[in-house]
Amino acid sequence: MHSLLLLLFSFSAHLYSLSNFIPFVEATKTQTSFTIDLIHHDSPLSPFYDSSMTSSDIFKKAALRSIARYSLSESSNQFPESIVFPNGAAGDYLTKIYIGTPPVERIAVADTGSDLIWVQCSQCDDNSSCFSQDSPLFDPNNSSTYTPISCTSENCTLLYQNQRTCGTSNVCEYSYRYADDSYTKGELASDSISFDSTSGVTFPNSIFGCGHNNTVTFNSTKKATGVVGLGAGPLSLVSQLGDQIGHKFSYCLVSFGSNSTSKLKFGDDAIISGNGVVSTPLTINSSTPTYYNLNLEGITVGNNTIQSTQNSSNIIIDSGTTFTYLDPSMFNDIVTLVTESSAVEAVQDPPKPYGFCGSFQGSSVNVPEFVFHFTGADVALPTENMYTLVDNNLLCLLLLPNTGLNGLSLFGNLAQMNFQVEYDLQGNKVSFAPANCTNSN
Ligand SMILES: *[C@@H]1O[C@H](CO)[C@@H](O)[C@H](O)[C@H]1NC(C)=O
Ligand SMILES: *[C@@H]1O[C@H](CO)[C@@H](O)[C@H](O)[C@H]1NC(C)=O
Ligand SMILES: *[C@@H]1O[C@H](CO)[C@@H](O)[C@H](O)[C@H]1NC(C)=O
Ligand SMILES: *[C@@H]1O[C@H](CO)[C@@H](O)[C@H](O)[C@H]1NC(C)=O
Ligand SMILES: *[C@@H]1O[C@H](CO)[C@@H](O)[C@H](O)[C@H]1NC(C)=O
Ligand SMILES: *[C@@H]1O[C@H](CO)[C@@H](O)[C@H](O)[C@H]1NC(C)=O
Ligand SMILES: *[C@@H]1O[C@H](CO)[C@@H](O)[C@H](O)[C@H]1NC(C)=O
Ligand SMILES: *[C@@H]1O[C@H](CO)[C@@H](O)[C@H](O)[C@H]1NC(C)=O
Ligand SMILES: *[C@@H]1O[C@H](CO)[C@@H](O)[C@H](O)[C@H]1NC(C)=O
Ligand SMILES: *[C@@H]1O[C@H](CO)[C@@H](O)[C@H](O)[C@H]1NC(C)=O
Ligand SMILES: *[C@@H]1O[C@H](CO)[C@@H](O)[C@H](O)[C@H]1NC(C)=O
Repeated sequence: MHSLLLLLFSFSAHLYSLSNFIPFVEATKTQTSFTIDLIHHDSPLSPFYDSSMTSSDIFKKAALRSIARYSLSESSNQFPESIVFPNGAAGDYLTKIYIGTPPVERIAVADTGSDLIWVQCSQCDDNSSCFSQDSPLFDPNNSSTYTPISCTSENCTLLYQNQRTCGTSNVCEYSYRYADDSYTKGELASDSISFDSTSGVTFPNSIFGCGHNNTVTFNSTKKATGVVGLGAGPLSLVSQLGDQIGHKFSYCLVSFGSNSTSKLKFGDDAIISGNGVVSTPLTINSSTPTYYNLNLEGITVGNNTIQSTQNSSNIIIDSGTTFTYLDPSMFNDIVTLVTESSAVEAVQDPPKPYGFCGSFQGSSVNVPEFVFHFTGADVALPTENMYTLVDNNLLCLLLLPNTGLNGLSLFGNLAQMNFQVEYDLQGNKVSFAPANCTNSN
């Protein structure tokens, strides 16, 4: 705990060092704005797309993948210090990243549940220590700007003590483990990073992991070759870009199964404004600095409101988790309200992975709407963000009890579809505005 606070302190000192020592930088600061595409794992645009699956199969698969991450986390009873929980590397969204000089393109998983940026590199420890991928391994020898980070560098100490060792030639070696037992080990390095962005902006000296012993759960199609961490911890893309992007990013996730890409924006482009915008305080807990915590005061279902039992930083907002997870008593109260105020009848054994499904007669059924009451921000969700039709007459909730999650609640990506969601890490707030993300550029 003590060393962690020191770590965070040294990080902020690093972040603000420029403006502290060169006063006019603050005044003339030019912010960088850019937008990149996020491709859903199961979208027709994705390298993972399986055209033989129906949209209902795809939905079920994504939901099951989400559950699998959780059950894996539950089964490993000892969490690593940093990546405490929960969605590991098998996130739902992919993006393109360009590394080195000249730049080479790689597909990576974009994950708000972790921090490190890494790709597989060519010096694999042995024949079995890298997973197979379609593109060549990233070869540091081919990049004129690649520089290993030394053990004594301040940047090396942004890793937890148990995540780093000092290798040959004084190179900072990292070891990074995810909650789903995926891991990457290799050398910490800096190089240019850019994206398939509207602005074509390049970020020199970005810190990333050059992995030479990697095992991941997303290896099945050989397309994704690493991860871009978007968490709040010091080595994430968001934290590294820091002042340059005004500590702001936002995303707008398209409807499930849409053929459009979702957008991830940084800098001034990320700012959302207008009448529909509501904001709630964001807190980062120093014992789990990766996660974005909000406070959910209660949920209205139709005409009734259920209060949260705990009333402080009680829910993590995450783009990489599919469902929304709530404490079991709140979940049960919701189920009661849904069955009382609609014509659905609870089924005994809801099909996996759902926690509640109800059957109904006829071709349609009226269901109560959900409003999530974050402190200062009431977010009314479209019906499709909370319910899904599984068979013609079976309606299931996109909510699950967080049994086994150490009491952690999560606001997942289905609940966030068709909202612009802005994270302001300097203003310490998250803002929401309803949108049609298919049409937002
Ligand atoms: C790769 O890391 C795993 C997990 O720590 C370890 O068991 C294995 O020996 C490593 N492989 C090599 C070649 O170092
Ligand atoms: C690795 O694979 C190559 C080619 O398949 C083989 O020649 C070599 O002996 C293997 N090395 C080890 C350490 O298994
Ligand atoms: C490295 O560069 C050489 C020469 O430009 C090229 O032929 C080779 O494919 C590159 N290797 C990788 C792994 O990118
Ligand atoms: C990269 O260069 C280093 C030293 O110059 C050499 O030892 C290594 O084999 C090279 N790696 C590849 C993949 O060519
Ligand atoms: C840490 O990384 C940043 C960004 O690459 C760089 O500006 C800075 O010089 C590095 N610090 C050290 C001590 O290497
Ligand atoms: C993915 O990794 C697992 C575990 O290492 C391995 O069993 C499996 O064969 C790999 N799949 C592919 C397609 O490489
Ligand atoms: C997406 O595109 C595929 C083929 O490109 C098409 O068959 C499918 O209907 C489209 N789906 C949507 C939701 O537009
Ligand atoms: C931070 O997390 C720890 C461990 O989960 C918890 O005990 C503590 O109360 C949290 N701090 C705040 C300010 O929420
Ligand atoms: C909510 O209350 C209004 C007025 O009392 C009533 O007409 C409506 O049916 C109720 N809605 C639900 C979902 O219970
Ligand atoms: C939660 O805390 C806020 C701010 O202190 C307060 O306004 C609100 O009434 C509390 N809600 C509950 C359900 O206790
Ligand atoms: C969003 O806009 C697209 C195209 O303009 C339209 O097809 C789609 O139905 C809209 N989606 C929602 C949720 O309104």
